[in-house]
Amino acid sequence: MNPIPYGRQHITDEDIQAVVETLCSDYLTQGPKITEFEKAFASYVGSKYAVAVANGTAALHLCAMALNVQPGQKVITTPITFAASANCVRYCGGEVVFSDIDPDTYLLDIQKIRSLLEASPKGTYAGIIPVDFAGRAVNLEEYRKLADEYGMWIIEDVCHAPGGFFTDSKGTKQLCGNGNYADLAIFSFHPVKHIACGEGGMITTNDEALYKRLLKLRTHGIVKDDTQYRNSIEFAGGVDTYPLWYMEMQDLGYNYRLTDFQAALGISQLKRAEEGLEKRRSIAQRYHEAFAGKDFILSQSGVIQGHAYHLYIIEVKDRLGLYNYLREQKIFAQIHYIPCHLMPYYSEQGWKEGDLPCAEQYYKGCISLPMYPTLNDEQMAYVIDSIKKFTILNGY
Ligand SMILES: Cc1ncc(COP(=O)(O)O)c(C=O)c1O
Repeated sequence: MNPIPYGRQHITDEDIQAVVETLCSDYLTQGPKITEFEKAFASYVGSKYAVAVANGTAALHLCAMALNVQPGQKVITTPITFAASANCVRYCGGEVVFSDIDPDTYLLDIQKIRSLLEASPKGTYAGIIPVDFAGRAVNLEEYRKLADEYGMWIIEDVCHAPGGFFTDSKGTKQLCGNGNYADLAIFSFHPVKHIACGEGGMITTNDEALYKRLLKLRTHGIVKDDTQYRNSIEFAGGVDTYPLWYMEMQDLGYNYRLTDFQAALGISQLKRAEEGLEKRRSIAQRYHEAFAGKDFILSQSGVIQGHAYHLYIIEVKDRLGLYNYLREQKIFAQIHYIPCHLMPYYSEQGWKEGDLPCAEQYYKGCISLPMYPTLNDEQMAYVIDSIKKFTILNGY
């Protein structure tokens, strides 16, 4: 049996062909494939606009900038996420306030956020960054109500959940990142994610003003549009119109562009997104059935409608033992995540053990099992049998 990682990309001949064709074209960066990818992605998630960027972290940073996060402003997020969900606030000098998770869903507990908000004057918190952790969709309708009550914005971190959805109070399916409730949503195209570009990211929104601002910030704050220029035609060196070479840097932006050949890979991958999602759901079903009612498994991701299954997580009694045993069997399970608030960077800002007990308890037992569309039946059976063998060997 070849080593089995917890996640991996799936690259087909069509993907390779798409990249090669773009490499042979006139554009390597910011060419027609970017716009094509943005349109296809917006249509996939059901948003009005999409902005392709270099990676998910860049997407978060641009969102925090577009929403004007200021030094000292407080923003709420979950401790059970990749650090980038929180770090984007710090890039802008804001303060990250971690709130505890719901031990059943592993997502932020909205009641705890409400308590946090009620304990301070309105205006204390600028925004919330809920994460569709592991692929489980956050109910953003509830978050929108809360955010409106307290005048806050929402950035939905959808890195784990493209294609995921929740059902709103009217019974309508709401796709993650569709922009109906969050101001902005972000995605990552890292190889372990549903759609792989190598590195890559996307921001989706239904807000035209934010969309335009993101386009500008993605490329150094530069605009090339004579309806938006601040300097005069004369200053620019023109007579009746701005000369064609003219452009203006109006804000402090970055180079967070995606290349055209990465976009070509993204377009090709996106065509198989639903197929991959179906496969992920069938793997989840198989794990769920294999572990249901087993004493050793304290909790598991389960079979949840709208879950996009970036990860399938089980909580177990002897996590270290199981992790090491699986490694010996060449099964490379992973831990998602060490709580962000206990990372030295954040604990040096005052966060300590005991602050967020549900997240800390979850961390003690969580382990992510292999979950990717090309995981075949034989490999899945091997993973399940190895876990069962471990429990028997250890008397569970
Ligand atoms: C929840 C979450 N947010 C943000 C990111 C950052 O994305 P990237 O690695 O593309 O910068 C990741 C990537 O692992 C993630 O899992």
